[in-house]
Amino acid sequence: MKVLVAGANGHTGRLLIQYLKQDGHEPYGMLRKEEQKPELEKLGGIPVIADLEGDVGHAVRGMDVVIFAAGSGSKTGPDKTTSVDRDGAINLMKATEKTGTKKFIILSSFGAGRELGEPEKGNEGMYHYLKMKKEADEYLMSTGLDYTIVRPGGLTHDESTSKIKVGDTVERGSVPRADVAKTMIAAIQEQNAYHKAFEMISGDVQIEEALKSL
Ligand SMILES: NC(=O)c1ccc[n+]([C@@H]2O[C@H](COP(=O)([O-])OP(=O)(O)OC[C@H]3O[C@@H](n4cnc5c(N)ncnc54)[C@H](OP(=O)(O)O)[C@@H]3O)[C@@H](O)[C@H]2O)c1
Repeated sequence: MKVLVAGANGHTGRLLIQYLKQDGHEPYGMLRKEEQKPELEKLGGIPVIADLEGDVGHAVRGMDVVIFAAGSGSKTGPDKTTSVDRDGAINLMKATEKTGTKKFIILSSFGAGRELGEPEKGNEGMYHYLKMKKEADEYLMSTGLDYTIVRPGGLTHDESTSKIKVGDTVERGSVPRADVAKTMIAAIQEQNAYHKAFEMISGDVQIEEALKSL
C-alpha cells in the first residue's frame, strides 16, 4: 500500500519508513528540507517535501494510508506545540479527508485520552502538550476517517521485543519506538484496530494479538 509518514525524518518516522518497506508497502516520507532526502531514500522511502503548517494536499494525494508521527519536540515553545502537534495534525486530517483516503493512524501520547484537570505548577508545558494531543485526537474521532490512535508511554531507543501491553488506560511505563512503529504498521491490516484509541507500553503480548484484543 502507498503509505505517507508525516515526521519521516524523526526517530519513530525513520523506523516506520524502514519497516513499511520491509513489509512490502510503498512508504512516502514527508520532509521539510531537500537535504533530508538522501537519508530517507537510503531507508527505502520516497520523499515528499511538505510542511504540516502549510499546504499538504499534494503529499496525501493517492495515498492508501496516512500516518502522523511528527511532533514539535521539546526544543520549541508552546506556540509550536499548538501549530504542529494539534493544528498540523488536523491540517493533515482535513487534507486526507479531501482526497478520499480513509485510513489515518496517529502517534498520540500516553494520557491524552484522560481527563486533564488543571495544570500543576511547573508542569504547564506538559499540560499544554497533552491538551493539544487530546484535541487533535478528538478532531480525528469526529471525522469520517478510519482512525487508529496510538498513545504510547515514554519512548525509548531500546531494541524491539514486539511485545506490548495495550488498553484504554494502562499503567505508566515506557516502550521502544521500534515497537510503536511496528504497532502502527500492524494497525493498517488489523480491522479490529480501526476506530480505536489505546494506550500502550512494553508488555508480554505479541503486537498482532494485542491489537486483536482491543
Ligand atoms: N518522547 C516521548 O517519550 C513520547 C511519548 C509519547 C508520544 N510521543 C510523541 O511521539 C512523537 C514522535 O516522537 P519522536 O521522538 O520519534 O519524534 P522526533 O524524532 O522528535 O521527530 C519529529 C519529526 O517531526 C517533524 N516535524 C516537526 N514539525 C514539522 C512540520 N511543521 N512539518 C512536518 N514535519 C515536522 C520533524 O522534522 P525535522 O526533522 O525537519 O525537524 C521531525 O522529523 C513526538 O513528537 C510525540 O508527539 C513522544
